[in-house]
Amino acid sequence: MSRKVTKAIFPVAGLGTRFLPATKSIPKEIMTLVDRPLIQYAIDEARAAGIEEFIFVTSRGKGALEDYFDHAHELESNLKKAGKNDLLEILRGTNMDSGAIAYIRQHKALGLGHAVWCARRLVGDEPFAVILTDDVILGEPPCLQQMIEAYQETGGSMVATMEVSPERTKSYGVLDVAEDMGAIVRARGMVEKPKENPPSNLAVIGRYILAPTVMTNLNKLKQGSGGEIQLTDAIADEIEEGRDVFGLRFRGQRFDCGSKAGFLQATVAFGLARDELKDEFADYLADVLSMRRAAE
Ligand code: UTP
Repeated sequence: MSRKVTKAIFPVAGLGTRFLPATKSIPKEIMTLVDRPLIQYAIDEARAAGIEEFIFVTSRGKGALEDYFDHAHELESNLKKAGKNDLLEILRGTNMDSGAIAYIRQHKALGLGHAVWCARRLVGDEPFAVILTDDVILGEPPCLQQMIEAYQETGGSMVATMEVSPERTKSYGVLDVAEDMGAIVRARGMVEKPKENPPSNLAVIGRYILAPTVMTNLNKLKQGSGGEIQLTDAIADEIEEGRDVFGLRFRGQRFDCGSKAGFLQATVAFGLARDELKDEFADYLADVLSMRRAAE
């Protein structure tokens, strides 16, 4: 089995209810951190990891997301005429090669596992990556690249993991660890949002490299926890059937941009990471904090 990973699925068909009313008309993935939509961070990470085919699983109301990847010829020629080469460069950085993007529809929001399964014919019999755009990760090298490097050694399937406090495990898929090799762990099992007795404090976050057999498992799955078809269950089935699943403790900082608090934290972190903004923004944050302290 080849270990080259060239395809990535971006499940973007969720309803994004935590960001209503904004998500009434804007896809969550178009919301911006500083000046780039969440989807652009995900695409850049995938490209850096060598992904060549980008498969979006979309739903009703995601038109703005498809438009985002169109070449903006008029805008490009206006910027060119005006000599705004730096902006032109930024704009061109968002262009995708013809034929590199495919859109497939998830007709009903039946869960992440179902969204991934919708892309089965486009993935075929190859290992593939899954990127959840909600999880924005500051990492060097970028998280998916770290995973692909680790996966070249291990094969099997691989999920990105991070340690969370015991009371937060109930919000994540959690690994049951068979063997801890440091950065990489071998999983014995995986439980989605354990209500009690989590098998470890290693939470799975939104980056995966999956064997094609995971699609076969999704085919078989009926409904797992919460009435949705869970990707976690299909990955756990790999282990049940004797195939390897690994977790990678990636190096970097992950922001849960699917939640309001996480989105705001990411805005601060990415704002402070920008040379042209950091001084003014840091001064502002310092002022806000000192005013808050004075008021307490
Ligand atoms: P979430 O659990 O964050 O759900 O999905 P959501 O609908 O996006 O947001 P809230 O909870 O209503 O605010 C995690 C990821 O899985 C995708 C979402 O688009 C998101 O990237 N997803 C989820 C699907 O593509 N289809 C689904 O049926 C469910």
